[in-house]
This record gives sequence, structure tokens and C-alpha cells, in this order.
Amino acid sequence: MESSVDAGAEVNENYGVKSLLDFIDACPTPFHVVDRVADVLRSSGFIEMDETVEWPVTAGSRFVRRGGSLLAWRHQTCDAGFRIIGAHTDSPNLRVTAQPDTGQAGYRQLGVEIYGGALLNSWLDRDLGVAGRVATPSGTRLFRIDKPLLRVPQLAIHLDREVNQNGLLLNPQTHIVPVWGLGLRTPGEFASVVAEAAGLNHDEVLAWDAMLHDLTPSVVAGIDNEFVHAPRIDNLVSCWAGLQALIHAPADSPPSSVLCLFDHEEVGSTSAQGAASTMLPALLERMAGSRETLHPALARSRIVSADGAHATHPNYPERHEPDHHIAIGDGPVIKRNANQRYATDAVGEAAFAAACEKAGVGHQVYVHRGDMPCGSTIGPFAASATGVTTVDVGVAQLSMHSAREMCGAQDPLDFALALSAFLSVAD
Ligand code: CO
Repeated sequence: MESSVDAGAEVNENYGVKSLLDFIDACPTPFHVVDRVADVLRSSGFIEMDETVEWPVTAGSRFVRRGGSLLAWRHQTCDAGFRIIGAHTDSPNLRVTAQPDTGQAGYRQLGVEIYGGALLNSWLDRDLGVAGRVATPSGTRLFRIDKPLLRVPQLAIHLDREVNQNGLLLNPQTHIVPVWGLGLRTPGEFASVVAEAAGLNHDEVLAWDAMLHDLTPSVVAGIDNEFVHAPRIDNLVSCWAGLQALIHAPADSPPSSVLCLFDHEEVGSTSAQGAASTMLPALLERMAGSRETLHPALARSRIVSADGAHATHPNYPERHEPDHHIAIGDGPVIKRNANQRYATDAVGEAAFAAACEKAGVGHQVYVHRGDMPCGSTIGPFAASATGVTTVDVGVAQLSMHSAREMCGAQDPLDFALALSAFLSVAD
């Protein structure tokens, strides 16, 4: 059996920051995340399971997909319980409406809805492509257009004189409508563009889940290459780190390893495939085979819920809890909240700190300021759906929910090492 330290060394060697940048750039939508992860899993020997049939054998390395969510696992027996890593595949963005062909003042424009808590200003004056999935008579198909098709132009300062004094106010219905051409609105135009991109006839395009993405590639940045500048760091860094940990987990020894990548975290997780759905409990039941096997296994299990954490902002240090400052480069962040916006308790904190120590990486502990509402994540959902001790952790970042975020260049690798160690820790 390979030790976790060896597995960790392999993660570092084979899956450096370049692998992370490639992953982020390959995944403009949750559907592309799931597609990419499925490819990596298949090439690592995982077999895809069909949710619509009975599973005669539950042992082995397997995965299952549902929309923009994917669960993968390495399983032999339930004797040592489950070690579960959760993350989310979605990020706040602009999503194309059902009847999007619109326009005004001589421009052809595309109707969009705001998905999740996007920083709207960050979508202004960017070269935007569009990607997603299209429903056809014979199933769904992915599409992706990386041309600079779209732009949301900011109002000139001469027409908004007080913007730097009073702040930028953006109405999500009227100010964020991207421009993509000149002339009159053309009904059916977006469907035609989707059809061409997906290799379909126009009448095969029945509906779409389509969203915009910034075309600027992810980069390593900073004077000493200490940063990553990229879109969707929240939460593709966690998806990537969890994937590295799972594919390097021991294939045939307890505890069983599970990776859950859920869609719809940014809008509250309550969907058929979100973290609040039955997807994870149903999988664990199928892995166990019977409830009598499942329940003792759950009592021996642990969940790590992996999601972005707030690094202390150098220009706004007063926005942070003064005794819980978080530094980029100082390792994984364990998130605590007394009101259970984060699921971590003392037992979970200690368990993940031990995993970090085993992996040879540092860790930090985050608490939100008492006079500001705290964000949440998938941890409380996974904990309440399973009854399993859960710890919320993540990589420190700035600009959370911007179209272009930043984090450290070393922290994602350290996070993958810590998650690897977590998967191999039995009680
Ligand atoms: Co997140």
C-alpha cells in the first residue's frame, strides 16, 4: 500500500500549478467540469455507473454523473467508514435567458440573468465567450465558443461623473445586457449560434443551459510567481485538489474515498443534484448495500467540505476578524462559525489539522467578523443529510465571486496534499 506521503509527492510532481490552470480553463461551466473530471477519472481506471439501473457490484473505482454534479468513489468495504471530499462545480456568472435575442439603440444584445452572488462590476469591459449544454431530441450536448462574441460596456465617466465618489450602481435587469452586434434584434439568432457550435441543425436545439465566460487565460502572476489569477477559483481549485487526492488514494484499502462535486452551491444547493439533494446519501446507501452496514459506517466517517476561503485583503484589513487573519501562501484554511454557517466543530478541526500535519503543510483558522453576516457552503448540507462529522476548509483567495479571482500558486498544491492525507486517515 502506498503511503499518503508518497501519494502526496506524486500529486506535487505530476499535478503542479500548470495542471490547475489547464483544468480551470477547460471548465467554463459546471457541465464542462463534470465532463473534464469524467475524462480524468476514466484514464485513472474509474468506471462510469448508470443511475437508472441496479448496481450488482459496489466495490471498485467508479463514478456517476447527474447534470453539473459528479460523485466518484474508491470502495472495497465499509469497515472503516467513508472519507468524503465535497466541492462545488458552479460559479457566479451571467446566464443566457430562454428568449435571449434582444436589443436597443441599434445594437443586437443577448438577454442574461445573474446567477448567484456575482460581483457585477467584474463582468464589465471583458471579452466574453459563451458555453454550456444544449438539449436535443437525442439527449444533451456540450458546446463552447471561445470567440470574443460579447461585451458588457461600462458607461463612460463623462456620463457618470460621480462614479468614483459614490460607487458604481448596476441594475441587473438593465445595465448588464451584453452587446454582440449591430442592427435589429434577430429572433432565433442565439439558437442558430448554439446549433452551429454544437454541430446541430437549428431544429435540433430544443433548449439550453448557457452562460458567459471571460476569455482571458489563467496565469501564474506576481513578482515571485506567488499568485494565480484566474476565473472560477471559487470553487474549481477545490474540485481540482479533490480530484488529485481521489485519483491518488489507495484503490483497495479502507477507508472508502468519495469525491462529491455538486452543482448549484452558489444558489443555495437545493436542486435535484445539489448538495442538499439525496444524491450523496443515496450513493452511500448503494455502496453499503444495506442500512445495517450503512449506519455504523456513517458513524465512522468524516466529510471535508472544500470551498474558497477569504484571505485578508491588504486594502481592507478592517473588514476581517482581527485575530483570525488569513494569509495567501500559509496553507489550507479551516473555517469555523458558531452558528453553523460552516459545519466545522472542534473534532473536525482537529482531524483536518492532523491531516495537514501528516501532509507536511501548514493550516490556518478563519472566523468571520461578528458584525457582518457570514457566507455559507456545502458543508452544513452534507453534514445534515448524512449525520457525519464535517469540516469546512478551503484555499485562501481574494476577489471571491469576481469574474477574475486570485489565490496563491502553492496553496492549491498544499491543499491537494492535505486532502490526500485526509483520505487515508482511519480513526
Ligand atoms: Co464557493
